[in-house]
Amino acid sequence: MPLDINQIRQQFPALALEDRGRPRVYLDNPAGTQVPRQVIERMTRYLVHSNANHGGHFRTSVESDQILAEAHQAMADLLNAPSAEEIIFGLNMTTLTLAISRSIGRWLKPGDQVILTRMDHDANVNPWRLLADDLGLEVKWLNFSRETYRYDLKELETLLSPKVRLAAVNYASNAIGTINDVKTINDMAHQAGALVYVDAVQSTPHIPTDVQALGCDFLVCSAYKFFGPHQGILWGKRELLEKLPAYKVRPAEDYPPGKFETGTQSHEGQAGTLGALEYLAWIGEAMGQEHHARFARFTGRRKHLHAAMAAIKEYEKTLSARLIAGLQAIPGLAIHGVAGLHELDTRVPTVSFTMEGFHPAEIARRLGEENIFVWDGHYYAVEVIERLGLSDKGGMVRVGAAHYNTIEEIDRAVEAVAAISRQ
Ligand SMILES: Cc1ncc(COP(=O)(O)O)c(C=O)c1O
Repeated sequence: MPLDINQIRQQFPALALEDRGRPRVYLDNPAGTQVPRQVIERMTRYLVHSNANHGGHFRTSVESDQILAEAHQAMADLLNAPSAEEIIFGLNMTTLTLAISRSIGRWLKPGDQVILTRMDHDANVNPWRLLADDLGLEVKWLNFSRETYRYDLKELETLLSPKVRLAAVNYASNAIGTINDVKTINDMAHQAGALVYVDAVQSTPHIPTDVQALGCDFLVCSAYKFFGPHQGILWGKRELLEKLPAYKVRPAEDYPPGKFETGTQSHEGQAGTLGALEYLAWIGEAMGQEHHARFARFTGRRKHLHAAMAAIKEYEKTLSARLIAGLQAIPGLAIHGVAGLHELDTRVPTVSFTMEGFHPAEIARRLGEENIFVWDGHYYAVEVIERLGLSDKGGMVRVGAAHYNTIEEIDRAVEAVAAISRQ
C-alpha cells in the first residue's frame, strides 16, 4: 500500500490550520518540519508524568531514564546503528558538531589536512575551519559541478593523501537537493586513512539511513527536520566515541553517550523525538509493507522505520517530478539542482530556483501572502550560493516538500509562482 496522505495529514494538527480562510502550505520543510500528534503527546506526557532529572531512585526519575533510553534506542533503529550507546543527543546538529570537532581536534596536529565541500551547510564547514585555524590544519575543498550539481569524485581522488585526516561531507544538500554517494566517498576517504563525518540533516527526513552500510565514522541529523522537536543527534562508531576525549564535567559519565551529552539534556525533546520515530514506524508498519522484503535483515521498529523511509522516498519522487516539471514550464525560471526526471532517485524534494526580473525575497514574500511558506536566501549554505554566483543576488527561492505535502499543494505553489512571473 502506498502512503495514505489523508491519514498521514490527520496526524499533524498544524496541517489543518488556516489563516483568514486560507490553508497553510508548508514548503519550508528543509528549515523545519511540522510535528505529528505522537510528538505532542509524548512531550506532554513526559512533562506531566515523568519530569525529573537523570539517575534518581524514585518513580519519575526511573521513568524518565527509561524514556531517554528508549529514545536512544529508537534513534539507533532509524540509523541502523549497532547500539544505543552510540547515539548522542544534543541541542542541534551545529552545537554537536562544534563540540565533537574540538574532541576530534585533540587527535590532529599542525599540517594535517581536512577535506570540506562547497556543497555543505555552514554547520559542516565552519566548525572544521575554526578547528583548522586553531590547530594550523590545511583545508582542502571539494567542489561540485555547476552542470550536474554533483561532486566530481575524480577531484576527490586528487585531494586525498595520507595527510588528510578527516572529510566532512553532506548526504543531501539543503540548497540544491542533491543526494550524494556518501558510501563511495567514505570508501575513498577510508582508503586514504581519513575519518568521515557525514551531515545527514537533509537526508534523514527523506531516505533510509544505514550507518553500517555507509561505513562512515560519524553521522549527524536533527529531529526537527524529521517531524520531531528541536533536537540534534550525533551517531559515532563506538570505538571512536570511547577513545575520543570529551569536554565534560568530572561527575559526568566517562563512556558514551553520557560523556558527550553535556549537562541536563532536553528530556522532553528526547521524548518528542521518540514520538516522531513512533510515528514513522507506524507509517512503515501500516503503509510500507511492499518495502519490508528489502529490509528483511531487520526486525521490529528498525524494519518499520526503514520501510517507512523507503515508502516516503517513493512518494516524494512524485512531488519532485510535479514540482520540477511545473517550475520548468515558467518562462525565465531556472532550477539550480538535479532536474532530470530520470534522476529523481538522487535528489530530495528540495527544489531551488531563481526567476529573471524577481528578487528571491520578493517571490518568497509574495508566496507568503498566499499562505505558501517557502525560504529564500542562502539558508546557511553559503559555499553553495557563492559557487553558483548568487551571493549578491539574494540567493535562491527554496521550495522544500515533505511526505505530508500533496500534489495539490505543489500545484498551488507552482501556479502562484507562475502568477508572479506574469506580473
Ligand atoms: C544540511 C544541514 N546541515 C546542518 C544544519 C544545521 O542544523 P541544526 O539547526 O540542527 O544545527 C542544517 C539546518 O538547516 C542543514 O540543513
